[in-house]
Amino acid sequence: MFLPKRSLFKGSAKPHIPQTKVHYEYSISPNTYSFKVPSSKKTLNPIQMIYKNAVNFPFEKSINEVYQSYPTLSSAQQLNRKERPRGVIMSTSDFIEDSLYNKHYGYFSKEVEIYHPEKPFNYSQVNNVDEFVKIWSKSYEKSKSLWHTPTELFSPHYGESLARYILITYKLGIYPYEDLVIYEMGGGNGTLMCDILSYIKKHEPEIYENTQYNIIEISSQLAKKQENSYRKKLKGQGLSADKLSIFNKSIFDWETVVEEPCFFIALEVFDNFAHDVIKYDMNTGEPFEGKVLIDKQGDFYQFFTQELSQYSTAYLNLRENGNFSILDYSNSLRGKLDKFKFNKTLHPLLESSIRLKIKNQILPFNDYLSNPEYIPTRLVKFFNILKHKFPNHSLISSDFHYLPNTINGYNGPVVQTVINGETIDVRTYMVQQGYFDIMFATNFELASDLYRQITGKVSKTSTHKKFLEEWADVEATTTRNGENPMLDFYRNASFLTS
Ligand SMILES: C[S@@+](CC[C@H](N)C(=O)[O-])C[C@H]1O[C@@H](n2cnc3c(N)ncnc32)[C@H](O)[C@@H]1O
Repeated sequence: MFLPKRSLFKGSAKPHIPQTKVHYEYSISPNTYSFKVPSSKKTLNPIQMIYKNAVNFPFEKSINEVYQSYPTLSSAQQLNRKERPRGVIMSTSDFIEDSLYNKHYGYFSKEVEIYHPEKPFNYSQVNNVDEFVKIWSKSYEKSKSLWHTPTELFSPHYGESLARYILITYKLGIYPYEDLVIYEMGGGNGTLMCDILSYIKKHEPEIYENTQYNIIEISSQLAKKQENSYRKKLKGQGLSADKLSIFNKSIFDWETVVEEPCFFIALEVFDNFAHDVIKYDMNTGEPFEGKVLIDKQGDFYQFFTQELSQYSTAYLNLRENGNFSILDYSNSLRGKLDKFKFNKTLHPLLESSIRLKIKNQILPFNDYLSNPEYIPTRLVKFFNILKHKFPNHSLISSDFHYLPNTINGYNGPVVQTVINGETIDVRTYMVQQGYFDIMFATNFELASDLYRQITGKVSKTSTHKKFLEEWADVEATTTRNGENPMLDFYRNASFLTS
């Protein structure tokens, strides 16, 4: 399998953890302890009492009193603040969003470099995939790139495959009644836009005359890059100046309703959509939502409460009402048999409650809560934005359906940074904000079901390879010995289209 994009991190994000005189109690690992609010008296077991007296336990008051004494803060309230938050409680998704997108210290507030090859690869001159990787690694080493994407690696062929898909779908359903309108969220270097527009201009000049391309980009630095790369191509390939509009904002702040039919492209953006975390009460099955408590010293603790956010509730309801209900499955024969398995990928509600009860006796401060499940609440929000702001869209999205080295928990993220050129994976998302990338894989079958329920539209999932076999110029990307890196790489990625 091909390495995920950031496992080849290089360059700019240099962690510098400030020194402090405060004593930290690292033994209270967020992976091990979950404080439940309200906490149940029963759970004060002997090991818990020994633990409390033997170590530097952080709280003098009861768990409930501690939780009630902190105010809550959202990532939107924190967005423009320069100092990392202290003495507050944040929802897990807001904590992750703040870590990634705060304007001053967020992971993406730094210079973002996406690998861009100096010139397209000439596959007919390359012997095989090994040689392709060698040539590419050499040019990647020279660049200061943070990550690489198929758009860039296989330019212009990857963009052209999307252009083919768009043109055929457009001609079948929309042409000649409406213009061809494309929205791309997270346009990176602007490569996809240039490859798509160049293809349309070359093969369908008439349609090109009535084409509009819009980019919605959160990073101001990348928005500038997109403008520049467009201007450069403008000169070289005669693209017209009035085709492009760039909106430098987050999709989550989009307000205008776009009534006309449009294609909405979202490539490699789902993985950084923040998630919330849920643990289930093993006695009742009731979901509890994780909140991050940041104390006055900036240390993190995970508290679980019955207060579910609007999107957590929506997600759990949609999942249970759709084709992937965990409760239905757990009542089936296969679900019951699953309880006997030791499987890391098992949903927490399918785990044996007896086994978890024993584990909870040994590990204090878990209060009969299950293993964590990370739920895609920003994806639910994104599909709602598509429904209400882009009611006549067709979606073209792609991202990873699998990531290795994830943290403990069902659907857990990869949390990583680069130190001295080495990629380091850590075991929790509750780390110094802005120094780590936090990435989630997407369950595309489930995403498709959520999308159907939210937008009322039918969608299709396919693997990266299958989509490209259908739409790309496979011959142009085949090496001399018949191998095809564009089809064979990114085996852990999928498409969702509608
Ligand atoms: C991994 S890059 C992918 C770039 C490009 N789509 C490609 O495949 O080469 C993610 C892109 O999404 C943008 N992005 C992330 N979150 C966003 C949001 N909420 N709204 C708009 N753009 C976002 C980033 O700034 C970046 O341009």
